[in-house]
Amino acid sequence: MAQKMAFSELVKHRQSVREYNDTPVEKEKLMQCIESARLAPSANNAQPWKFVVINEPTLKGRVASAISSMGMNKHAYKAPVIVAVVVEKRDMMSCAAGSVQDKDYSLLDIGIVANQFCLQATDIGLSTCIVGWFNEKEVKNLLNVPKGKRVPLIITVGYSDVPVREKNRKSIDEISSWNKY
Ligand SMILES: Cc1cc2nc3c(=O)[nH]c(=O)nc-3n(C[C@H](O)[C@H](O)[C@H](O)COP(=O)(O)O)c2cc1C
Repeated sequence: MAQKMAFSELVKHRQSVREYNDTPVEKEKLMQCIESARLAPSANNAQPWKFVVINEPTLKGRVASAISSMGMNKHAYKAPVIVAVVVEKRDMMSCAAGSVQDKDYSLLDIGIVANQFCLQATDIGLSTCIVGWFNEKEVKNLLNVPKGKRVPLIITVGYSDVPVREKNRKSIDEISSWNKY
């Protein structure tokens, strides 16, 4: 059995991959990603998410077209699987807390769950790219997402055709301080 990566290695290996080879993605692996995402934390444990997995080729082509229709994200055509993350309604308590705090907890939750999905994918040899720029209206139409719901993020999934690259990130000094801002 392949040696598991330490978490510190896993976060270096997780990268946005926009070039995939033709290897199909196993259903069990996708289920494992959804299972790990299911365990993600969320404000008031509202779990305001639903994953729509798109692997049927004709539909996937149409969704890829909606993702890349604004001149970006052509890589969606190459991804063997596309996952749309739908925001579900929160419970009353959690809505009220969000409104008092003036925070959109749903979008925070969606970001966390998407990353949990992507880290799990990386751990089992898959590659992903979180996509936030796409024709949401078109995607909703294609997937029959009810009118009142939103699709803030899409995740493309497949086997990478590129090596792991160095991360381009701000320094620790730039992004952290101790005891005052
Ligand atoms: C909320 C969000 C939206 C993103 N939208 C896109 C996108 O529309 N297209 C794209 O190619 N990458 C998108 N990305 C990927 C980022 O460009 C990428 O995470 C960032 O450049 C860091 O690179 P890395 O993921 O390879 O470490 C998005 C990432 C996040 C978290």
